[in-house]
Formats: sequence, structure tokens, C-alpha cells
Amino acid sequence: MGRSVACLPGDGIGPEVMAQAVRVLAALGFETAEHPFGGAAIDATGSPLPPETLAAAREADAVLLGAVGGPQWDGRSVRPEQGLIDLRAALGVYANLRPAVGKGADLLIVRELVGGLYYGARGTREDGTVFDTCEYKPEQVERVARRAFELAGARRRRLLSVDKANVLATSRMWRGVVTELAREYPDVELRHGLVDSVAMQLVTQPESFDVLVMENTFGDILSDVAAGATGGLGLAASASLGDSGPGIFEPVHGSAPDIAGTGGANPTAMLRSLALALDHSLGEPEQARRLEHAVDAALASTPTPDVGGRATTAELGDAVLAGLQVPVA
Ligand code: NAD
Ligand code: IPM
Ligand code: MN
Repeated sequence: MGRSVACLPGDGIGPEVMAQAVRVLAALGFETAEHPFGGAAIDATGSPLPPETLAAAREADAVLLGAVGGPQWDGRSVRPEQGLIDLRAALGVYANLRPAVGKGADLLIVRELVGGLYYGARGTREDGTVFDTCEYKPEQVERVARRAFELAGARRRRLLSVDKANVLATSRMWRGVVTELAREYPDVELRHGLVDSVAMQLVTQPESFDVLVMENTFGDILSDVAAGATGGLGLAASASLGDSGPGIFEPVHGSAPDIAGTGGANPTAMLRSLALALDHSLGEPEQARRLEHAVDAALASTPTPDVGGRATTAELGDAVLAGLQVPVA
């Protein structure tokens, strides 16, 4: 595992939280380079994922991503979000790990990331009907479910597969594939849940879950629900992994146009995503634990407004660097 990190700050609060991650990376001795991405890249080059950025991402050991999107690009033919969709597919990062820890809960959502509605056929018919299609191959289900079983085996050994098998054909296939695979993981207790009722239980009893696995769109929605139930979007990190090559590490949240430029963004989700990069792509688990502890302490001593404090993004970053016991950059 190497030490080069491609940083894609993006839009809105993306560059604001990324700046804190770059300070930490410099303090830990990593090489970083920033590349245009999202709306900022559309403005500069016409494309949300310029070829230079994609090449740099492929060559890096890990890709750190801020956030993309904003009202100034709504309604355009090329959207910032498409850069993210294309980058995930190009790097083959099919397993998106979204931990939610807090308020007595410690759960992990494993979201399928390169299939389903986001990548199925879409179009407009002559009569004006518009369609997006949800498509999955059994192999796409099996590989992400395998990842989820392995992660559950290393935790509390409980896996909940989330679907809508009472209605959807893709969900019935999903449930069949996961059920079959469970025979290879006898130590993991597998259950199935319907997405609507699981959404409710995430709100009322988030502490009752261990690992959850689900398709792309369900995972997008339920990971924001889980974040909301356990402390807020400012805290929620993610790791997107394939079988080889660099992972993508990004907050669950977006570009937060409502607070961009105020200095009030919480950099915790970004810094926890960096800790996941240290674990999964950079081969530095001890540094990951140090960073997590420093972030937890900084969050308690120097909270930003979303978690009831008054600190700025940079002040929380200062506290993290102080906690790492390295000179403040
Ligand atoms: P959002 O996640 O950007 O914001 C939702 C709410 O959470 C807002 O009130 C925001 O202020 C708050 N919030 C989010 N992150 C925070 C942080 N770090 N600190 C404090 N508060 C924070 O969702 P949205 O407003 O629906 O979307 C805005 C834009 O972001 C859209 O263009 C959307 O497509 C994009 N988006 C991008 C990503 C990504 O890049 N991965 C993820 C989600 C949304
Ligand atoms: C996320 C975001 C993205 C998604 C958007 C911006 C494409 O909401 O990472 O959760 O839906 O995957
Ligand atoms: Mn989302």
C-alpha cells in the first residue's frame, strides 16, 4: 500500500472540509494533490470528471472526495453529480461502507454502489413517459453481499439484508442470492427486512442493528436516515471499495449550499472518511485509530454548530491536529 492521495474537493462545503483533511494528511507525511471535480470542474473544463482527474484518481492509492453539486448547476445538461456516478463506475467501487455510530448505536450500512436505478437504462418515450430502470445481475448482488457477510463476521455477526421483495423482481432475486450465500457463512445470522419497515426501525431503534446490506437507492436513502438517527450528517463517513485499486473516501453528506461560505461546516465526516482511507487503502490502521480518537476528542471540546457548539471548521481542525500531537500546520 502506498502513500499518494488524490484529493477532489468539489463544491460548496466540499473544499472547506477537504482543507482540514489536507492539513491532517500533511501532518501524517502523505503526498496530496488536488484535482478539479464536480461543478467546479464543469465551470473550468466543461466536464464534472475531466480526464486529468480520472487519470490521477486511477494512479492514486486512495481518492478523498469532498462533495459535489449546488443550485448554480441545477437544470444544466451536464450535472456535477454525474462526475461522481462516473468515477464510482470507473474505479469499480461496488461496496460502499457507511458506518453510523452514536446515540447508543453502532451500525454499518453496506450499500451496493455501481448498479440499480443509477446505472440502468433511462430515457423518454414519444408520449412523454420518462423512465429509469432498476437492473441487477446476480453476480453484482453476490459480490456486495459477500463483502457484507465478511464485515459482519468481523463484528457482531448479524446481517440484515434489506429489500422490497414483496413487490420488486430485483428484490426477489437479491433475497435469493443472499440466502444462498449465507450457507458459506454459518457463523453470521442472516435476516431479511422490507425497506419501509427498516427505515422506521432505524429511526426508533438504531441501536438494534449491526450490519445492513442493500441496493444502491435504498442505501442512499437509509444511510441519511441512519446518520440522522445517530448524530447528524456532519458526522457520517463512507468508504467505497472494489476488489483492487484505490478506494474512494467521502462524507455521506453533500455540498450543503445552505451553510457553504459561513465557516460552520463540520469536518468530522470528512476526517472520519480519511480514517477509513488510512484503514482500507493506505495500510495505516494505527494512524487511523489515532485520528479517530483525536476527532472524537475535538468534537467534544470544540463542537461546530450542527452538534450544538460555536466552533468553525478550521477551529475543529486545529483541535484535531493538536490532538494528534503534531505541530499545527
Ligand atoms: P446536504 O447533505 O448537502 O445537506 C443536508 C443538510 O445537512 C443541510 O442542512 C446541510 O447544511 C447539513 N449538513 C450537511 N453536511 C454538513 C456538515 N458537514 N456540517 C454541518 N451541516 C451539514 O444535502 P442537500 O442540501 O440535499 O444537497 C445539496 C447538494 O449536494 C445537492 O446538489 C446534492 O446533489 C449534493 N449531494 C452531493 C453528495 C456528494 O457529493 N457525495 C451527497 C449528497 C448530496
Ligand atoms: C451520496 C449522494 C450521491 C448518491 C449523489 C450526489 C449522486 O447522495 O453519495 O449519498 O446518490 O450516491
Ligand atoms: Mn446521498
